[in-house]
Amino acid sequence: MLQAKKVSIIGAGNVGATVCYWLAMRKSCREIVMIDLVEGLAKGKALDIAQATSPEGSHTLMHASSDYTDIQNSDIVVITAGVPRKPGMSRDDLLMINAKIVKQIIEQVREYAPAAIVITVTNPLDATTYTALKVGGYPRNQVIGMAGILDSSRMETLISEKLGFGYGQVTASVMGGHGDDMVPLSRYSSVNGVALTDLLNDLEIEEIINKTRHGGAEIVGYMGTSAYYAPANSTVKMIEAILGDKHAIFPCATLLDGEYGYKDTVNGVPVVLGANGIEKIVELPLNLSEQRLFANSVNSVNSLLDTLRNNNFFEEKKCEK
Ligand code: LAC
Repeated sequence: MLQAKKVSIIGAGNVGATVCYWLAMRKSCREIVMIDLVEGLAKGKALDIAQATSPEGSHTLMHASSDYTDIQNSDIVVITAGVPRKPGMSRDDLLMINAKIVKQIIEQVREYAPAAIVITVTNPLDATTYTALKVGGYPRNQVIGMAGILDSSRMETLISEKLGFGYGQVTASVMGGHGDDMVPLSRYSSVNGVALTDLLNDLEIEEIINKTRHGGAEIVGYMGTSAYYAPANSTVKMIEAILGDKHAIFPCATLLDGEYGYKDTVNGVPVVLGANGIEKIVELPLNLSEQRLFANSVNSVNSLLDTLRNNNFFEEKKCEK
């Protein structure tokens, strides 16, 4: 599936480099540019990845740089740069430092790759996605936050572990922000078509929901830094849906404009991904308890956005696509 497409990845840390690795191994695009302030890091990893993918017959060209002019003509720009969590930290503890980093990056992306679809990965995810949208003055289809696929894949893994069967057959759905108040939806989860609620009791499902919410922190606790294989794979799924104009449905962070009853805030909801980025936002009929949980998640994200607003992060620019 080698396509004449260009993907730029900002940040050659664990997530950025793993996204690069998978795109090249899967021959998902023609060209990848990895940008990092530490140019040697990006160059070393790009070289290592190129040498890994050659035996796979990959024709993906790789280029590493600290110069943003190299991202020109990108179809997609992925922002992974930022400080990762340390044990005991929540994603929200990274707000000020990472919002500043994303703000600086998006100004460069707007300058050199104004038509690119932007995928944000940097935490706290919903707040950095909002920052990118506002600072860049983007239409909302063009900036998408990665998180729901990651949280859903964690829930899927926990479900098959709990059941002891159905590995690879579970579809789980997690809405809400990428934080401790995310909203795992058991009613929308199933194992090869069999409703989860018919396979596990309420207590078992509650245990899975709690573990899903703290799945990222569990990994930080073990290795002292954030996860990257699953976050990178979730990002690659989004990239492939966009490059392939797949019109595939995934939970992603997007700017809400009345959907689910909220405006001017970013949160995770099911969207359809295609060549234009977000092609459509899907509104699920939530029951009362799901609505309450979603409201809680929106409130958590809004309190981060208020902190940013008070720090004048969102001087808007209107640019042509
Ligand atoms: C996680 C980080 C990447 O959930 O937010 O692992």
